[in-house]
Amino acid sequence: MRDTIEMAKDIWVGDVQAGKYDNETVELKGWIKRARGSNKIRFVVLRDSTGEIQCVGKRDALGDDEFDSLKNSIIETSVILTGVVNVDDRASGGHELTITSVEIVGPVNPEKPFPITESAMSAADGGETEFLLDNRHLYLRTSRMTTMLKIRSTVFGAIHSYFRNLDFLEYQAPNFVAGAVEGGSTLFEVPYFGKKAYLTQSWQLYAEAAMPALERLYTIAPSFRAEKSRTRRHLTEFWHAEMEIAWASNAEVMEHGEGLVRHIAKTLLEERSTELESLGRNLDDIRRFADTPFPRISYDEAVRRLQEKGVEIEWGEDLDYSKEKILTQDFDVPHFLTNYPKIAKPFYHRVNPEDDKYVLCHDLLAPEGYGEIIGGGERTWSEHEILQRLEEEGGPTDAYQFYIDTRSYGGVPHGGFGLGVDRVVSWLSGADHIREVIPFPRDSRRVTP
Ligand code: 4AD
Ligand code: MG
Repeated sequence: MRDTIEMAKDIWVGDVQAGKYDNETVELKGWIKRARGSNKIRFVVLRDSTGEIQCVGKRDALGDDEFDSLKNSIIETSVILTGVVNVDDRASGGHELTITSVEIVGPVNPEKPFPITESAMSAADGGETEFLLDNRHLYLRTSRMTTMLKIRSTVFGAIHSYFRNLDFLEYQAPNFVAGAVEGGSTLFEVPYFGKKAYLTQSWQLYAEAAMPALERLYTIAPSFRAEKSRTRRHLTEFWHAEMEIAWASNAEVMEHGEGLVRHIAKTLLEERSTELESLGRNLDDIRRFADTPFPRISYDEAVRRLQEKGVEIEWGEDLDYSKEKILTQDFDVPHFLTNYPKIAKPFYHRVNPEDDKYVLCHDLLAPEGYGEIIGGGERTWSEHEILQRLEEEGGPTDAYQFYIDTRSYGGVPHGGFGLGVDRVVSWLSGADHIREVIPFPRDSRRVTP
């Protein structure tokens, strides 16, 4: 193994702006974000993945050929600019590059300029117009989207570190499956060599099969839901962080849900404060999410609170977004709802042995109107109970034979949860819509680009 990799690029704009190269000559590789000037002097804002810096080129210093190549370079041209780093308080970021040489790498045809213009962006007003969605592959380079993707990367990293620090094993389940986990109405059917298969809604059932082998397991993987309605918190393909743990009760699983969300908030504060602030997020809010214990109320208590607020709701209904949104007004940190009615939840939830109208489960709702980010609970683990639950549901059981089998050989109490990663990124970044935080959002109307 080599301990150093020779890198084609080893100087980053972010490091230059951090003062690591003051008064030195550096070679910067990146893309032109903005350019202006005259026939004698050009001001070019160069961006790379780490930041941006104003660079100044003069005809006198560069000679006609290099100056003209710079002058003709329009937005998103990729370039290598060599120059001297000047400390300059007036410059954005405190530094400016005096260009001594210009190399154009990937030119942009002036007849087909970069379509994501300032005016297209301001028309969108932080939202996502169809135009920006059609040009998503180019929109990714804008600072807002880049910022979202950095926050997203940190959230994924935090999920891995939370579980790995606690000795959970990462485990993968198939994406082509034969049956529903979360109910048939959101199943995606795919032709499968003359038969039917489905895209998985959740890793859970296959994780339960591995639970007696690994005891503590987790994943981050895509899940699929044929959600017809387009809402600010639904995707048809979303990233799902799920965990399963042997011997654990609903209360213990909730401790992990809370621990994970607080760890994500804490990691964002450590790694992405600048990015969060650039989106207008108040860091005090994120600190509160990292530091304050999450309250817990029962489903019945939630229904009572909603009824008090004049919301029409019948006991036994699952809580949809409109109702969750109203509930979240009572809290300024995430909060658990526990003990849902059996009729509101899928077959795998364990019936409360003290009252069989309820199951031992929880949802975690994010505050500020965001609503459900986690669903989880204890599993029906004994063979006769799972058979009974499947019979009550009345559907075909062929696809679940493997699942029943796992209970026939040394079943044990266990539980787990699923966290919608895109929803968490959306909430913590303060986005208006889940589409804003995933590179290529999929909904009922869009699979392109
Ligand atoms: O509540 P859900 O449906 O629970 C499950 O899938 C369980 N099998 C998880 C488990 O126990 N292992 O989904 C879990 C979470 C939701 O709380 C939500 O955050 C997210 O997944 N989610 C979605 N995110 C974006 N778009 C969608 N269409 C989503 N559906 C669920
Ligand atoms: Mg749910």
